[in-house]
Parts: sequence; C-alpha cells; structure tokens
Amino acid sequence: MTIKARKLDFRDPWEFIVYTVPMEKDLVIRGYRPCDLPYLYEICTLTGLRGGDAGADYDDSRLLGHIFVGPYVEREPELTFTALVDGVPMGYILGTADSRAFDGYFRQRWKPDLAQLYPKKKTYKPAQKQLLGRKIWTTNSDLPDFCPKYPAHLHIDILPDAQGQGIGRSLMEQFTQALAALGVGGFHFGVDPLNSGALGFYHKLGLEQIGAYPGVIYFGKLLKPGS
Ligand SMILES: CC(C)(COP(=O)(O)OP(=O)(O)OC[C@H]1O[C@@H](n2cnc3c(N)ncnc32)[C@H](O)[C@@H]1OP(=O)(O)O)[C@@H](O)C(=O)NCCC(=O)NCCS
Repeated sequence: MTIKARKLDFRDPWEFIVYTVPMEKDLVIRGYRPCDLPYLYEICTLTGLRGGDAGADYDDSRLLGHIFVGPYVEREPELTFTALVDGVPMGYILGTADSRAFDGYFRQRWKPDLAQLYPKKKTYKPAQKQLLGRKIWTTNSDLPDFCPKYPAHLHIDILPDAQGQGIGRSLMEQFTQALAALGVGGFHFGVDPLNSGALGFYHKLGLEQIGAYPGVIYFGKLLKPGS
C-alpha cells in the first residue's frame, strides 16, 4: 500500500497532515491536539499487554496512560502524532527527543503526584504493583546505557481494527522525520519479547536490535551518519 504524505512544516505544530490511503475509511494522521488525550490513554491500555488489552491486569487502567502517554504529550506535544479513522483517534506515536532530560522531568513533574495517587500497598494486582515498583516507588533510573548514542525514545500503539493498513509504518516515518528535523542523532525503544506482532513489524521496518535485558528487547536507529 502506498501512502502519500503532504510535507510537514515542523514550525507549525498544529499543521494538519493528511495522508491519502486507498481504503474506504477516511484516514488522517496529524499532530497531537489536546482533545486526543483521553483516546490516547484508552489506546495505551487496550494495547498494553503485549499488544492486547491490559485493562483487567490493573487496579486503575489509567496508570498506563499516566506513565506512557501523559508525560510525553505534556512535555513534547510536537513529537506526538495521532492517527484518526473516520475522525476517531485509533493510534498514536509519541516520545521524547532526549531520554535523559525526560527522565529528570518525569521524576520532578509526575512521580510525586503519581506516588500520592498510588501509595505503596500490598493489595494491588501484580502488574500494577510491578509497574509502580519499577517506575514510581523507586529512586533508581531505568535509562539504558546506550542512551547517549540513541538519545530519543518512542511508544507506538494502534487499535486492532486499524492495524495492518500501513498506519504503523507512516507513524514511524513521521516520528523519524520530526526527530531528524530537530537534529537528534538516534532513537531507541523497548519491546516485550513475547509481543510477536510488534517484533514482526520492527523486523519488517529493518530496525536493528541494540540490546536485550530480562523482559525487554531494545531496537534502535541512528539518524545522523557517523553518530
Ligand atoms: C505493531 C504495530 C505498531 C504495527 O502497526 P501496523 O499499522 O499494524 O503496521 P503496518 O500496517 O504499518 O505494517 C508495516 C509493515 O510491517 C509488516 N507487519 C506489521 N505487523 C506485522 C507482524 N505482526 N508480523 C510481520 N510483519 C508485520 C506489514 O506487513 C507491513 O509490511 P509492508 O509495508 O511490506 O506491507 C501495531 O500492530 C500495534 O500497535 N500493535 C499493538 C500495540 C503494540 O504492540 N505496540 C508496540 C509496542 S512496542
């Protein structure tokens, strides 16, 4: 499938980006707008368990959005792109140009409030307890050691009904172009080794595996020759 994109002007974060896709439904990919936020939280939860619905695994399904959506769109809305099918957000890509700076921002601006929202207790469901332990109740940083070489990172999620139509590929292209326009040297992202759909997608896109830790495989791409 070929997707034709109008050239994006990164000086105007509100510019409407329209893709013409040969399908019956109306597909639009554009820069993030504030009314997208609740949809993005929902999409994050509905795809949060190795690509499937994670809602039942969490005491509060908003927790995933508070960690993997909210901080990114608040800090770097210009790096968030929303895919709409017939006017409804069905997918997104978002991230940060600088993972180290983002980590500092998350600690200062989000962690204290989230720690208050989700105080330490034993009765949470295992997935919720594990995510809170890793992201909120710890002082440790989980920044991978290859961050200086691949400073940006991303998250991409598309609802099942909108998958397999070229949206993922074009969201990755948008994000890559946006980073390149900012002069960023490279990006990375983590994937659950059991998320076979996502692994197939990244391999198809020719992305290079740059690291593996228990429970996560990292892929990366350099955007500047020689960086
Ligand atoms: C993984 C995901 C982002 C892919 O997006 P998508 O819109 O379905 O993918 P596209 O239609 O753009 O596919 C692009 C290419 O990858 C290939 N591809 C997509 N999914 C694949 C899979 N499961 N296995 C093998 N190849 C795959 C397509 O065939 C296509 O190849 P082509 O361009 O040569 O035809 C999407 O399915 C998704 O959001 N899944 C659920 C959430 C998730 O797992 N997110 C990633 C967390 S790390």
